[in-house]
Amino acid sequence: MKTTMTSLTLPLADDLHVHLRQGDVLRTVVPLLRAGGAGRVLVMPNTTPPVTSAGQAVAYRAELRAVAPDVDFLMTLYFTPALTPDEVRRAAAAGVVGIKVYPHGVTTNSASGVEDLLAFGPVLAAMEAADLVLELHGELPAHAGSDVCVLDAEERFLPTLRSLHDRYPRLRIVLEHVTTARAVDAVKSLGATVAATITAHHLDLMIDDWAGKNHNFCKPVAKYPSDRAALRAVVGEGHPRFFLGSDSAPHPRTAKECASACAGVFTSPLLLAYLADTFEGLGALDRLPAFASEFGCRFYRLPPARETIRLVREPQVVPPAYGGVVPYRAGATLNWRIAAA
Ligand code: NCD
Ligand code: ZN
Repeated sequence: MKTTMTSLTLPLADDLHVHLRQGDVLRTVVPLLRAGGAGRVLVMPNTTPPVTSAGQAVAYRAELRAVAPDVDFLMTLYFTPALTPDEVRRAAAAGVVGIKVYPHGVTTNSASGVEDLLAFGPVLAAMEAADLVLELHGELPAHAGSDVCVLDAEERFLPTLRSLHDRYPRLRIVLEHVTTARAVDAVKSLGATVAATITAHHLDLMIDDWAGKNHNFCKPVAKYPSDRAALRAVVGEGHPRFFLGSDSAPHPRTAKECASACAGVFTSPLLLAYLADTFEGLGALDRLPAFASEFGCRFYRLPPARETIRLVREPQVVPPAYGGVVPYRAGATLNWRIAAA
């Protein structure tokens, strides 16, 4: 007989990839992190201007802490061609945990990104020595005249991941927001220092869900049903090198509901509820605590959260907007919610 779970208690989640922005959007989204179930978040540096120095990361962290003192903000720097080994060491000393690579031109605010990562040997060696994590937006940029497109940009980045791991086997590397079966296989095939994050939305979506539907458009784009099946399988099997990084990426409604929409799906406020729905649908609800609260902090060498949250199987409707930002699945009814403390 099949029994239905009606509640699930787990440690506060680690969301190891989130965009928190600046100004009004920051003040809207940062207070919603805990409501979504996250107590510790890895903050992306693609602000304007980007976070490129230890000093900027420390200032940004102070700003975030002032808005949400109950959240632990793990900071990253933006890997630009001007990054130096000295700045890497200063960042590590200031408590920065990682450096994020955006290949030039692949996504929102990536104009400062690098073209050939392997050309930055001294910086990579300094990261390995200081034990900073390299977070990769793993897409090969499409140049004019190249034959790369959004559907194969991730797969074609994988040789770079392999070369990095070969050359710097002790450098911890996270392939962010994986979307393809090929990326899942590649990460599985590499050593213990290589991991991947998976978003809530990529466990649900495929191409047809974002083509013409801007609120589901993000980079990397969701791919084929067979790719989604591979993501679902790897979380269902509870592979310890695949963990939660929501890539929650808020954009004002006007930047999404227009002819040339920004890439990004906003999931922070209801993150654990979305995931509970999805994991339940996969018959893998028992895998959610490790995916959201255990594997990520283990890879980042952080202690597990001490506080817990309780998810209950009670319906809730996703609000139409939070301060002008439309959340993922706005208007839909979710089967799970976080119980009031
Ligand atoms: C992110 C953003 O909006 O900052 N967008 C996205 O589609 N994921 C950038 C990124 O992580 O690619
Ligand atoms: Zn991102």
